[in-house]
Amino acid sequence: MIPCINWLQPFLALISSTLLTRGLNCPSSCVCPDHHTVDCTGKGLTRVPDSIPLNVRRLLLSNNWIPWIPYDFLVLYSDLVYLDLRNNSLSQLDPGTLSTSSRLVFLDLGSNNLSEITSETFGESRSLIKLRVGNNPYLHMVGRDAFKGLTSLRELELQRNALSALDVVVLESLPSLRMLRLEGNPWHCNCHFAKLFVWLSENSHKLLKGLEGIECSLPLDGRRVPLSLLSEESFRECRGTLTLTDYLIVIFSGISVSVAAIITSFFLASTVHCFQRLSKGSKADEEEGND
Ligand SMILES: *[C@@H]1O[C@H](CO)[C@@H](O)[C@H](O)[C@H]1NC(C)=O
Ligand SMILES: *[C@@H]1O[C@H](CO)[C@@H](O)[C@H](O)[C@H]1NC(C)=O
Repeated sequence: MIPCINWLQPFLALISSTLLTRGLNCPSSCVCPDHHTVDCTGKGLTRVPDSIPLNVRRLLLSNNWIPWIPYDFLVLYSDLVYLDLRNNSLSQLDPGTLSTSSRLVFLDLGSNNLSEITSETFGESRSLIKLRVGNNPYLHMVGRDAFKGLTSLRELELQRNALSALDVVVLESLPSLRMLRLEGNPWHCNCHFAKLFVWLSENSHKLLKGLEGIECSLPLDGRRVPLSLLSEESFRECRGTLTLTDYLIVIFSGISVSVAAIITSFFLASTVHCFQRLSKGSKADEEEGND
């Protein structure tokens, strides 16, 4: 009896795993090599397939034409650890779509058509370790708090996008960062860039090839200069100089002061004038009274 059960066990396991992976639980155009993996790579999909098993952990959707992810996607697939959406047509991430991903460790959004990463995109995805958002040729804006809750993030790819500026706070808020890619972006070497430059110089060991391959264009003639040729001295004009906002504040407060001065002197002049007339009037009264 016992040897019989021993013999049956692997047989039953084989049958059930075959049923689970080949049967009802695998989307028709995908393959499911094990219990937790759904592989739909390069199947010409134009949307996320239905009937993905809810307990999926690795979901491979790269090389398709998927233009958006439903906003409740990660609420539904809350066991997801690995999500590959590389080389799709994503142009926008609804705020909060990825913020509920409590288990997600790896996320590839490279080679899509994203134009912005806003501050609410990732929320508190504390498990995320690798985030790839390179090769999005229209990606020109990363919000100041975009990666704020990503306390475990070690690898961040933002190479070959359309970034001309990046608030250094975005990088400063990543305590676990070990590897960063920023090359191939059209950075502007202006005073706003100066802070990022200082951070990059101090953290060049985190950059895949150091400062090599990162260039910025000069404000005057747009000529591109490799960062490795610049030093903090190159930005010395920015030290103590005023930004446009500062200038506006100075000009505006100048104008307000002048306006206030004009109003005050006008008020004083009228008061004086008024008193003069009053005193003249009372003198005339006195004279009349004397007569
Ligand atoms: C991106 O996906 C398309 C569509 O499947 C494919 O033809 C192309 O080769 C992929 N590109 C890369 C770089 O993998
Ligand atoms: C990519 O985004 C840009 C601007 O955001 C848009 O003009 C273009 O049509 C998009 N391309 C595709 C293939 O969706």
